Amino acid sequence: MERKDFLNKLTGGLALTCVACMMEACSKDNEGSDNNPGTALLTLNLNSQLLAVGDYISENGVVIARLASGNAVSSFAAFSNVCPHQGQQVVYQKSSSNFFCSTHSSSFSQDGARTGGPATTGLARKTVAITGSTLTVR
Ligand code: FES
Repeated sequence: MERKDFLNKLTGGLALTCVACMMEACSKDNEGSDNNPGTALLTLNLNSQLLAVGDYISENGVVIARLASGNAVSSFAAFSNVCPHQGQQVVYQKSSSNFFCSTHSSSFSQDGARTGGPATTGLARKTVAITGSTLTVR
């Protein structure tokens, strides 16, 4: 008896079926095509979050700030919230209109470019999509 036949007999075909399902699910999660741009890192309700210019959220590996009024994608800037210096959390400072890491005072412009401090690179940009009042960061 071959291994495949033995496993089929032992599990009623369930094991092989499950492996095929898991492999298909994994490949879909990791796709980066336009039809499936990857897993959402952050989903926000624009009726209750990021209401005012300068509001920001830094969680789930993302820092997103509202830079302008209205719910157009261009009203928001989203980056990895992991500081490129030593990995501490980046926030947005409304008073200076900069992204900032308080650990060693690295700062970044609204387009993510490094503007000061010991970091040698800018922030990694994330993709923002808006459908109705739902904003998604990937
Ligand atoms: S970890 Fe951010 S400036 Fe050092």
